[in-house]
Amino acid sequence: MSRFPEARLRRLRQSAPVRSIARETSLEARQLVLPMFVREGLAEPSPIGSMPGVVQHSLDSLKKTASDAAEAGLGGVMLFGVPEVRDAIGAGADDPKGVLNVATEALVAEVGDALVVQTDLCLDEFTDHGHCGVLSDSGAVDNDATLERYESMALAQARAGSQLLGLSGMMDGQVAAIRGALDAEGFHDVLLLAYSAKYASAFYGPFREAVDSQLQGDRRTYQMDPGNRREGVREALFDQDEGADIVMVKPAMGFLDVLREVRDAVDVPVWAYQVSGEYAMVEAAAANGWIDRRGAILESLMSIRRAGADAVLTYWALEAARLRS
Ligand code: PBG
Repeated sequence: MSRFPEARLRRLRQSAPVRSIARETSLEARQLVLPMFVREGLAEPSPIGSMPGVVQHSLDSLKKTASDAAEAGLGGVMLFGVPEVRDAIGAGADDPKGVLNVATEALVAEVGDALVVQTDLCLDEFTDHGHCGVLSDSGAVDNDATLERYESMALAQARAGSQLLGLSGMMDGQVAAIRGALDAEGFHDVLLLAYSAKYASAFYGPFREAVDSQLQGDRRTYQMDPGNRREGVREALFDQDEGADIVMVKPAMGFLDVLREVRDAVDVPVWAYQVSGEYAMVEAAAANGWIDRRGAILESLMSIRRAGADAVLTYWALEAARLRS
């Protein structure tokens, strides 16, 4: 046997065109969803300190950015509302005049034919205690009372024209409850994205600034423990059975193993959310000259796709659609 190799894997790496034709994973604009924040009463967009390049939008800047997203060929935009007033039950969430519902209506009119207009369905932006549900007398998050609020919120969002509801609250039975409420009112075509394996993560830190979160404490009685892999798969299977059209794993980079297992376990599309802390880490390191920003963005997104995500929510969606390959 020759001391030189017969099989030469480097042959497939020799030039940019060869590497390109040999690449197993693609990253396309249509696979990217841009999360956007819209703040009630804002005249001009307002920067978010811990997320350089991301803003709280005014209604006008929201529409403009959504048009850019459509122009860039993105798969969708995911809307989060930041209300002026909050209360114990999150009344702004299912008020047709609430910031999220008003913005949804405007966006559907603007870009509803070009991409999928999506809305976050959760109470945390609307409650004065910052939890994703309503509280019982003991101060615990009340699962079933919260489901009733979610049903009402789902109907308000569907009436505003939302094409896909992002169920991010992590209440048990939320997919079935919301599907039932929508179907009863004839909203059979509204898609449900279940944040199935949503972990109680420190990487949501910058998002809390983005939505002016009022949360004291943590969400560990409803979001998952980062040590659990099997439970993530179980959540995804439950949600698929309850009628989720798409399931999600969140955050992305720290949970690529869960993403792969979920991808192998379900038949519905699987999405991943590259969250605010993942964004902030790369931006901060790049701002210090410690990391190649473009390379890190593309590599992180490619890794999430490789692990099994059919689509990715990312604050870099617009930029990545242009950077691609
Ligand atoms: C809940 C929600 C959160 C995020 C998306 N939806 C916050 C949380 O669960 O605490 C975080 C997204 C991010 O960090 O980018 N409505």
